[in-house]
Parts: sequence; C-alpha cells; structure tokens
Amino acid sequence: MSLLRVESLGKRFGGVNAVDDLNYEIQAGAVHSIIGPNGAGKTTLLNLLTGVYRPSCGRIMFEERDLTGRTPYEYAAHGIGRTFQNLQVFFNMSALENVMVGRYMHERCGLASALLRFPRLKRAEQACREEAAELMRYVGLQDYLSAAADAMPYGALKRLEIARALATKPKLILLDEPAAGLNPTEALDLDDLIGRLTERGVSVVLVEHNMRLVMGVSDHILVLDYGRKLAEGSAQAIRNDPKVIEAYLGSAVASAGSETSADTPAGLVGRAVAGAGSAGNSSAGAGQIGSAGLVGTGAR
Ligand SMILES: Nc1ncnc2c1ncn2[C@@H]1O[C@H](COP(=O)(O)OP(=O)(O)O)[C@@H](O)[C@H]1O
Ligand SMILES: [Mg+2]
Repeated sequence: MSLLRVESLGKRFGGVNAVDDLNYEIQAGAVHSIIGPNGAGKTTLLNLLTGVYRPSCGRIMFEERDLTGRTPYEYAAHGIGRTFQNLQVFFNMSALENVMVGRYMHERCGLASALLRFPRLKRAEQACREEAAELMRYVGLQDYLSAAADAMPYGALKRLEIARALATKPKLILLDEPAAGLNPTEALDLDDLIGRLTERGVSVVLVEHNMRLVMGVSDHILVLDYGRKLAEGSAQAIRNDPKVIEAYLGSAVASAGSETSADTPAGLVGRAVAGAGSAGNSSAGAGQIGSAGLVGTGAR
C-alpha cells in the first residue's frame, strides 16, 4: 500500500517551478531517496510534504487522507517527521531537552492542566525524559546524554535531529541531507541507522548527495531536475540511466573551469565518472555514476 502519494503536485516561486507536475508514491516500510542537482526542488518537496509550503497545485495524500493545505502541526500529528538541511537545533538547551521538544509536540501539555495536575505532570515529564534518553541511545548518542547542545560536534547534532524527529512518533521520516558535512566514517554509520529505522517500522525519505549512501540504502530512488521527475526506480536502474548521468554531467560541464576541487560539482562528477570516489571501491566505469562518486556537494 502506498503510504504517501502526491498527484500533479506543483510549487511556484514567482517564475520558478520549484516542483512541477510531480506524481510520486512512497511505500510503507521502504527507504526512498530523492536525488538531483542543487536547485532541483528536493527541499521544496520536503517542505510541501510537511505543510511548510502550501502547494500551488496538486494533492498530497497520506494513508489515503487528503492533507493538501494542512498546517505543519497537522502533518506532524498524522505521522510525518523530518530533519532539516540546515540544522534546527535549540543551542540554548541540553541535547536531551532538544529531543524532549519533539515529544512535547506530540503530547501538547497545556499550562492550565499542568498546574491542576502537577504530580501527574511530573511523572509524565520523567517518562518523557526517559524516552528521550532511549532515543538518544538508539541514534548512537549515548555519550551525549548530559551534554549541552552547543558543545556537540556537527555529526552528533545531525543525529540529535533524527532523535527529535523520532520523538514525534512518525510513520514516515524525511531526512534532508543527513550526511552533508559529515566525515566519511560518520556518513558510513548513517547506513546502519537508516536501516534500523525501517526495522522500527518507520519509512524513510532520504534527500542526499552522498551517492554511496543513497545507492547502498535505497529501495527506490526518485531523480528530480528543474522540479520535474527525471527518472525513478531501483539503485541499479538509476545508476545506469543516461538521463540521470546527463543531468549531473550537464551541470558539471557548465560550471567546469579552473575549479578542480572535489567539492565542486565539476570535481565531483569527474570523480563519479572515473568511478574513483572517496570510498575507493566503486565499480562504475566511464559514463556511470559511481557508487562512491558525487559525495557531499555543497548545501543549498
Ligand atoms: N522560499 C523560496 N523562495 C523562492 N524561491 C525558492 C524558495 N525555496 C526554493 N526556491 C527555489 O526553488 C528551486 C528549488 O530549490 P530547492 O528546493 O531548495 O532545491 P534543492 O533542495 O533540490 O537544492 C530553486 O530554484 C530555488 O531557488
Ligand atoms: Mg535542498
């Protein structure tokens, strides 16, 4: 059964069709990745799927319920959680409190009832604290249970956002570039965490430039380009799709010049085509997007 379905979905910003006439389905229990060059509309799509943006046209169905035009709170309440491309951590709180925020969103304890039922509230708070600690352990943050958020390294903060999203008890979690800014070892650990999310019954949508991660964990990949669906299918099908290679190569050739850094699109595609990415074990030949190529392009 499809968990989420979008029908002819569109979002315009002035003259730009950030998401353009998109039909797309997400299956329960699977890992779906969304890839595409910078500006392809990936983050806009996640914002539409969480009620941050209202679609210009089309419908969003979640568990066969029409959520089009609903608020972010309603999307969260129906079971769609997310993390952000640019960290959205409360740096004046502890790590644990950041996760508890997610849980409070789920419970919505009012002040009046809080004052009337103080003992019960204290028990609820304790349960909430324990649950947040459990989620921190689950995402691998057992060493940060008493840390202040502003004392944590970047990789740990990305995991903290995943723990906070899980605290809202989502059926579907949307991860916007979770590997961006991580070192290769931290990025490797994400494979395992994403796999465990589906075991927990949480379906995953992964927006990511790290092709090694995408190709390794995805049951299904959607490729966006200029807001439109360029291709979709299994990792194997996408890796060898000439349209996909052209979309990446096209932008790389356009921006190729004196830049040769591996962090520029041109450098990345160069590595991808050569099949000589950072993991060093890509089997891709020329004309293929190497499983280790296209790693970690700049955030946008
Ligand atoms: N809030 C916004 N206002 C105006 N234009 C936007 C806004 N958000 C995104 N865009 C435009 O929509 C297009 C898609 O952007 P985005 O969804 O961020 O792409 P991606 O996440 O794939 O890099 C880009 O052309 C971008 O400039
Ligand atoms: Mg983005």
